[in-house]
Parts: sequence; structure tokens; C-alpha cells
Amino acid sequence: MSKIREELLEKIENKTAVLGVIGLGYVGLPLAVEKAKAGFRTVGFDVQGKKVDMVNKGENYIGDVVDEELSDFVQRGLLSATKDFSFVKDLDFIAICVPTPLDVYQQPDISFVRKSAEDVSKYLKKGTLVVLESTTYPGTTEELLLPVLERGSGLTCGEDFFLAFSPERVDPGNKLFKTKNTPKVVGGVNEESTEVAAALYRKVLEGEVFTVSSPKIAEMEKILENTYRNVNIALVNEFTMLAEKMGINMWEVVDAAKTKPYGFQAFYPGPGVGGHCIPLDPFYLTWKAREYDMHMSLVEAAGTVNDAMPFYVVHRVMKILSRRFKKSLNGAKILLLGVAYKRDIDDLRDSPALLIFDALEKEGALVEYYDPFNPTFVRMDGNIQRSIGKLTSSVLNNVDLVLITTDHSTVDYEMVLRESPFVFDTKNATKGFISDTLELL
Ligand SMILES: NC(=O)c1ccc[n+]([C@@H]2O[C@H](COP(=O)([O-])OP(=O)(O)OC[C@H]3O[C@@H](n4cnc5c(N)ncnc54)[C@H](O)[C@@H]3O)[C@@H](O)[C@H]2O)c1
Repeated sequence: MSKIREELLEKIENKTAVLGVIGLGYVGLPLAVEKAKAGFRTVGFDVQGKKVDMVNKGENYIGDVVDEELSDFVQRGLLSATKDFSFVKDLDFIAICVPTPLDVYQQPDISFVRKSAEDVSKYLKKGTLVVLESTTYPGTTEELLLPVLERGSGLTCGEDFFLAFSPERVDPGNKLFKTKNTPKVVGGVNEESTEVAAALYRKVLEGEVFTVSSPKIAEMEKILENTYRNVNIALVNEFTMLAEKMGINMWEVVDAAKTKPYGFQAFYPGPGVGGHCIPLDPFYLTWKAREYDMHMSLVEAAGTVNDAMPFYVVHRVMKILSRRFKKSLNGAKILLLGVAYKRDIDDLRDSPALLIFDALEKEGALVEYYDPFNPTFVRMDGNIQRSIGKLTSSVLNNVDLVLITTDHSTVDYEMVLRESPFVFDTKNATKGFISDTLELL
């Protein structure tokens, strides 16, 4: 093993290693760009021809990637994309960044990881390092990836190729922390795998590279990070439902609590939890835990509270209309402000606003939306929904209620408050304004 270790370390050091990224989405494309930026020839793989074509034309489709950087690296031959996995034979390093969703029964759908591993295994050459970056349950790298790679390639892990897990922590839209400067955790199946993976990331990224003793540790720590967020959001959401009954402003409570300089981290209420990570990842762990005769009841309870929030929001809208305006939700005109799952991005995956949209319509409300980051979106029934073009006084005057579901920073909230008959704000986007026609979650 030591000869291929030395060869790979040398290729990393002198930047002659050829790097591959499987899955060119929110995680994979920024990662591929960072690798090219560090001076490595990088090949991206995706099953979607449209993404492959766009990359090869130097066209960007991910918010966190700088357009000019992408086109520059493509022009200079540092970055290319393909659907053809036979190019895996040219690679010294492969990062797998494919989706890890839940299926309709809320169980891990690991089929994307399995399929990409099968595709890689057919062309895997001796001396290559494979790193799984997709978020998944502890055990995936050694129990699923390793045998699939060995079977398809005829090579032996630990002797012929290196294997590690390194979770991706990108926070789309974060202005401070990007792929490049976020610390990276790495755990290999053996010491040499950890060593070469850490060497590669140190060469490409600026953030600290923290090594752990196994892939399982790295897999579990990622789930801990995201479960920590999910559970704390659920805690504050549960407090919020009680606070409303008691006439207490929960946003003010959290602001007061966070003045404590230790032992408390602020989490805020919201209309539910969205995105491809926080609402899903904890259930990769609860599923795995059952193999060990364990029910992770605290984690499950957090999911129950957060999953109920969109419907709690609809209930609050009903209450506002009936108590303040003696109106029914049936026939009421509602304008939803924001459909993305968080501010200043276009990502709609698992966005609670979409559930709220549907639930309001089911009760007979006439719903429209405004989202500067999403001029259209595809409804659950496949139909296209269009955003209203401009947020004008006349639009706001003509609805019964404005429901703020995303706190995009480009919206003029003072104007929204001034011109709307009533505003129900689930994100505290109107912070600092006082009005009789405003209610906070
Ligand atoms: N989005 C985030 O903020 C974020 C943050 C940290 C971790 N993660 C994790 O990273 C992983 C990827 O997430 P994402 O948000 O980038 O997903 P994404 O859907 O944006 O991108 C995944 C890409 O993989 C491609 N793909 C699917 N199957 C493939 C295959 N067999 N071969 C090649 N390409 C394939 C898809 O076409 C898609 O372009 C997930 O496990 C997710 O949990 C995501």
C-alpha cells in the first residue's frame, strides 16, 4: 500500500492528480470549482445532461459559485463535465456528492449513492482515493460503498485503493462561510486513507482539516450537527405555540435568552424546517438506530413538532381572519411572501411555504405568492405557479392578508406593513416595526 500512498501524495503535492466530483448540485459544483481553483484538473460527473452542458459552456446555475470563475476554469481546461463514467479511469481522487433523500415512507433512499458507486466501480483504477461526501447514516461507507466498489472493480480496499468519508457542510447563501473556508472532517477506512484524504483537502481548501479515526465517526458527527439544529428548532417552535396562548412574544424571549454569554445558542421559530438536510438527515439515524433495537424518541419528537408547523401556521391564519375580520379562510385572498426555504436563495426543496400554499388552497383560500428568487415553481400536481411580477401598493391593498414565509432581504417590509390590511410574519422579517395590523408567529 505504501507505494501507491507515496505516489498519490506526490501527485497531490505537485498538483498533477486528476480530481473527479460525482453529482454537480448545490454541494458538488462549488466543490469542483474549488478544486479547479486550487490548480487541479477536475472532471464533474452528472446524470443530468443539462447540467453537464451548462458546465461545459461555462454557464453557472448555483448561487454560491462565482459565474466568472466557473467560465474561466472551463476555458482554461481545468474544469469539464461529463455523463460518461468511463472517464473515472483517469481519476486519482473521486468525491461522491449525490442526493440522499427520504422515500415516501420517510426511510433513507440510498439508491443514488449505490448507483454512483456501481458506476465508479466499473472504471476504478489502482491507487485512487474515493471519498463519500453525501450525508448518510453511520456505516454507509464501510457497509455499502466498500463492498460495491470492491465487487465492481475487482480491487481490494486498503490494498489497491483508498476510501474515506468527509461530510459536506456547505450552507447555501452564507456570506461568511463557503466551501473553501469551512472546516472539514475526514475519516478513512484506515490510516493511509485518512492521511491522503486530509492531504488532498488541505491542498484545496483553506479551512481546518480535522481527522477522525473512522468513517463512522465522520458520518455520525454530521448527523449530530444537523440533528442538533432540528431538535433545537423544534424546542423553540414548541415554546412558540405555548407563548402564543400566553400572549408572550417568543422572538423577544429568544433575544433576551441569547444575552447569556455561555450555555445557550439562539434558535428561532419558523413555519417549518426546509432544505435537503435538516428535515431529512436525523431520520437516516433513527432508521439505522432500529437495527440496534433503539427508538430515538427525542429526535422523532422533534420531527413531529417541526412537521406540524406549516399546518399550525395555516391554523393561525384562520384564527386571524375569523377573530379580527370575521372572515373565513374559504374565499380569503392571501399573498405568500417567499417560497424558498430560507432567505436570499432559490432552493425550494422541502420548503414549508409550499405545504402552506397547498393547505391554504385546500381550505378554499385564493393564494398568490411573491418571491424575487423564484419567479415560478412547479406545484405538487406538476402545474407551474407564477410569482406576481411586482410587489406594489395595489397588490398589497387588494389582499386580505400577507403571510411572510421567507425573510428575503430584498423585500421592503415597511411598505408591506403600510400597504397591507394585515401581515402575519412567521420569520420576524418586520423586526423593529410596530403595527396594529401585524402579528408574529
Ligand atoms: N444542499 C446543501 O445545503 C447540503 C449541505 C451539506 C450536505 N449536503 C448533502 O450533500 C449531498 C448532495 O446534496 P445537494 O444539495 O448537492 O444535492 P443536489 O440535488 O443539488 O445535487 C445532486 C446532483 O447529483 C446528481 N446525481 C444523482 N445521481 C447521480 C449519479 N448516479 N451519478 C452522477 N450524478 C448523480 C443529480 O443529478 C444532481 O445534480 C446530499 O447527501 C446532501 O444531504 C447538502
